[in-house]
Amino acid sequence: MNSIAEAPTKAIITGEHFVVHGAWALATAIDRRIRVEASKSDELTVESDAYPGRHYERKSRPEIRPIFKVARKICEAEDFSPRVHLRVTSTVPPGSGLGSSASTMVAVAASISRLNGVQLAPREVVEYAMTGEKEIHGRPSGIDVAVCTYGGVLLFKMGVRPKPVRFPGTRKFVVVQSGQKRSTKRQINKVSEMKTKFPYLFSALGESASMVSQLARERIVAGDMRSLGKLLTYNHAVLSTVGASDRALDELVDLALSLGCYGAKLTGAGGGGSVVTVPQSGQEAQFMAALEERGFRSFEAVVPTSGVRSWLQ
Ligand code: PMV
Repeated sequence: MNSIAEAPTKAIITGEHFVVHGAWALATAIDRRIRVEASKSDELTVESDAYPGRHYERKSRPEIRPIFKVARKICEAEDFSPRVHLRVTSTVPPGSGLGSSASTMVAVAASISRLNGVQLAPREVVEYAMTGEKEIHGRPSGIDVAVCTYGGVLLFKMGVRPKPVRFPGTRKFVVVQSGQKRSTKRQINKVSEMKTKFPYLFSALGESASMVSQLARERIVAGDMRSLGKLLTYNHAVLSTVGASDRALDELVDLALSLGCYGAKLTGAGGGGSVVTVPQSGQEAQFMAALEERGFRSFEAVVPTSGVRSWLQ
């Protein structure tokens, strides 16, 4: 018997980077899922459509190592057999700012425990998944793993229980992929240099990011997408000031605004990756067609969407 777990990926709506330094951020799960199938095997092995071939723990490539780390950790802590084969299938390219690594770690933890007849509590999934995220990013805030586990829209601050943001109906975003990969770790270090150079300015910008995230939460609940868009564009300008953006992302934000969006910003670590936009209601398809004409891939993210789920097959 095999077990399957599927975790959503995510988009950070406001507050990335500053969240690593203690600010509030707002993030949403998106329904582009990563699927991990776990089956009993002779030894711990991984297959991933992003990195073809069968991967073994001893000579694993760096991108796969965090998966082994989470698998080992959970098997040791829960007394599960580590003779497991994991097959990872993704609908999101790695390095696109949509939390594919966090989603994978969450689905790995959920699928291994389900294979052993255990359904972990969400906070346990978060804890195991974080061991892999730390291996990748050095010092992740935990926002990605939290939102990929719990789903929905979360207001998040390090060290505080994430606050689910509930609202009636759905809200629509369009996520645009720049097509450029980047390293989250490098981006975090780059932005952190700004903190060392200008500590007071950085701390004031962090406070403003917290305020923007609180206001964005209110506007999402109220369904006031026009004001939400303005908050996103403001947040992009601040992220750009601290070095998280690049010319391609700035141009994508400008393009989204010129095509009538209420707002747009980079999402995730920046320096490549994706842009999250707030299209005018009813204009989503037209906006995406205009992007396609210019060679950009995009998809609609309807939120809220559910968190990780697992089952036996
Ligand atoms: O690179 P991504 O999409 O996983 O985004 C990371 C978000 C950061 O705030 C830059 C880092 C973090 O751990 O919060």
